[in-house]
Amino acid sequence: MPIELAPKVYWVGAIDWDVREFHGYLTEKGSTYNAFLILDDKITLIDTVKKEFLPEMLERISEIVAPERIDYIVSNHVEMDHSGGLPQAMARLQPEKLFCSPLGKAGLSRHYQADWPFVEVKTGQELSLGQRHLLFLETPMLHWPDSMMTLLKEEQVLFSSDGFGAHFASSERFDDQTPDMAAYLHQVKKYYANILMPFGGLITKLFQRIRELNLEFKLIAPDHGLLLRNPAPILSAYQQWAAGEVLPKALVIYDTMWHSTELLARALTEGLMDAGAATIPYRLRLTHYSDIVPDLLDAGLLLFGSPTLNNNMFPSVGEFFTYLQGLKPQNKAAAAFGSYGWSGQAVSLINQVLEVLKFKVVHEGLSVKYRPTPQELAEARALASRLARENLKL
Ligand code: FEO
Repeated sequence: MPIELAPKVYWVGAIDWDVREFHGYLTEKGSTYNAFLILDDKITLIDTVKKEFLPEMLERISEIVAPERIDYIVSNHVEMDHSGGLPQAMARLQPEKLFCSPLGKAGLSRHYQADWPFVEVKTGQELSLGQRHLLFLETPMLHWPDSMMTLLKEEQVLFSSDGFGAHFASSERFDDQTPDMAAYLHQVKKYYANILMPFGGLITKLFQRIRELNLEFKLIAPDHGLLLRNPAPILSAYQQWAAGEVLPKALVIYDTMWHSTELLARALTEGLMDAGAATIPYRLRLTHYSDIVPDLLDAGLLLFGSPTLNNNMFPSVGEFFTYLQGLKPQNKAAAAFGSYGWSGQAVSLINQVLEVLKFKVVHEGLSVKYRPTPQELAEARALASRLARENLKL
């Protein structure tokens, strides 16, 4: 049964119930690769799907129109979860033109070594489909340099590529159909935190551009997850995240060898809670880093703990910092802690990383030899309360 999202505009994508990993990020809810068909004088396909899902997409198109009748393809983004099906689609459908951004043309040409009938489009440029028009909006780095969004002007439908989406497989296609919007919004936040967090400044500029162009949307159709008939909550959340707004919330992110750093983590957690901070401790080998960063996105205070292992920080802590350096979190106060046996470098090494991350280091670091004593734990608890009061709006 074709799913019509606006008059003669159809969802023709694919549902990937089984995918559990997307370049290092756990996708426990699966994903969708959304593609869209517009019936107009020029029949137009917006995006394709991951390579192995092309037959599913073509089958959906066949329920509406013979796929070979497609005149135009618009490729909003080069990444292979959207363009993987493009070589087969181009060979079979032989469209008259393939529209993409200039960097999209460069990326697709390079990746697929293909000589396709490219037409480069830029921000503000319009394309007539006959009765209706597409307007293109380049959105570099959301999520790759080539990314763009495409607006079907008359219907006010924004095909937003990776923006405003989530890795979320479901039987429902629209936000107002999902039985659990809170679960969906969590996946939207997880997507933003893991994919778009480094680009908050560009997202803020995108909202400015949308205002300058006086664009309004009745429906936002991302390439992953649900189609948004009520986009306001997600647009508002994006603006807050992009601005780096933080809550009176603290995370204690640590790993432990023989439970001594864990004892410190527990004492610090208690102290943060004593001060009234919303607090979550995360032991790194128990929670995947992609499930920590959604909470980190809007936390104001971060306490990082590691034992010293072979003169270094614990490997899981180092791995987390490697991931975090790519995400460039904003507006964080932070401090380090850890237990050690003899050399004790972990806390100073964490402090160096906190400087690289441009976090506000609010304590020189709490370092305890071997197992912390009851007095040291009481001091750690009091310290955490003080750091919460001084650095969070409680
Ligand atoms: Fe959904 Fe950047 O690809």
